[in-house]
Amino acid sequence: MNTSALSIHTLTKAYGALTALDSFNLEVDQGSIFGLLGPNGAGKTTLIRILTTLMRQSSGSATIEGFDIFQSGQEIRRIIGVVSQENSLDRYLTARENLELHARLHGMERRLYAPRIDELLELMGLSGRQKDFPDTFSGGMQRRLVIARALVHLPRVLFLDEPTTGLDPQSRRAVWEYIRSLAGKMTIFLTTHYLEEAEQLCDRIAIMDHGKLIAIGSTQELKDHLNGATVYEIDFAEGAAHSAELLGNMPCVIDIKQIGNKVVVTLECWECLAEIVTALNGAPVRRISLQERTLEDVFISLTGEKVRE
Ligand SMILES: Nc1ncnc2c1ncn2[C@@H]1O[C@H](COP(=O)(O)OP(=O)(O)OP(=O)(O)O)[C@@H](O)[C@H]1O
Ligand SMILES: [Mg+2]
Repeated sequence: MNTSALSIHTLTKAYGALTALDSFNLEVDQGSIFGLLGPNGAGKTTLIRILTTLMRQSSGSATIEGFDIFQSGQEIRRIIGVVSQENSLDRYLTARENLELHARLHGMERRLYAPRIDELLELMGLSGRQKDFPDTFSGGMQRRLVIARALVHLPRVLFLDEPTTGLDPQSRRAVWEYIRSLAGKMTIFLTTHYLEEAEQLCDRIAIMDHGKLIAIGSTQELKDHLNGATVYEIDFAEGAAHSAELLGNMPCVIDIKQIGNKVVVTLECWECLAEIVTALNGAPVRRISLQERTLEDVFISLTGEKVRE
């Protein structure tokens, strides 16, 4: 039995000499929320454009709910919902008409789509503005309308390319809550640069760079990939510089940074903490706290600190 909503095999896309997607493989379970992360230019939008049949791959293959993206474009467009990275609303239609047009293009009857559109407008906080044109909306309101539109026809697989970029914290939370409420009812494939968003929402996360998949797993599994190093922050009442120098010479200390009265020390493993505490004997330590590893640490350790062009 095939329970993969998405099945991607050696998918490759070249733009001239640039390989934007390089032998990409991935399986996404039905009903899951899957997050794809990667620096600017990693190839996320390219992958989504190919999967949503807006663009052809150079080689390789992929299926969505068993339909081949190359051969069954029409079936696929019927069962997917897409929120693209750029808002693509019809500016000559009102907010409500944008949703109605989408419903009709999907062959829905008015008695089905009218209440559904009411519900989505309400949910996205746009009921009061449904007769207005998108050009008169703020960026965040347009984004919410695009998300509502992608959901009108109850897709089986929902693609969200940076769904919450440009949203204020309230709207972002509302969108998260809604995405969560959809879990299990449809498969959700999203990209984001907000690592907290991925951590909060996604069952599984993939990190890609230069067109290739470089890591995959749950947030916890990805964090476990980081080496055993643990980071502690030590607050001193005084003499932080002196203690930093002392600790910096210890073999179990991998890295040390002093910022004012604080010293951030990276240890080979948590067992080294006892040695550190012994070495600090008599120093005016106010507090020692463990710095939890974040998804951002994983991301930076895998993709580097360099800003992408
Ligand atoms: N139509 C195109 N023609 C030529 N090169 C392109 C085209 N679209 C994208 N690229 C290139 O392909 C690479 C991947 O781009 P893509 O838009 O897929 O990245 P992304 O991961 O979505 O980045 P971002 O986080 O900035 O949205 C980039 O190097 C980009 O410059
Ligand atoms: Mg993109």
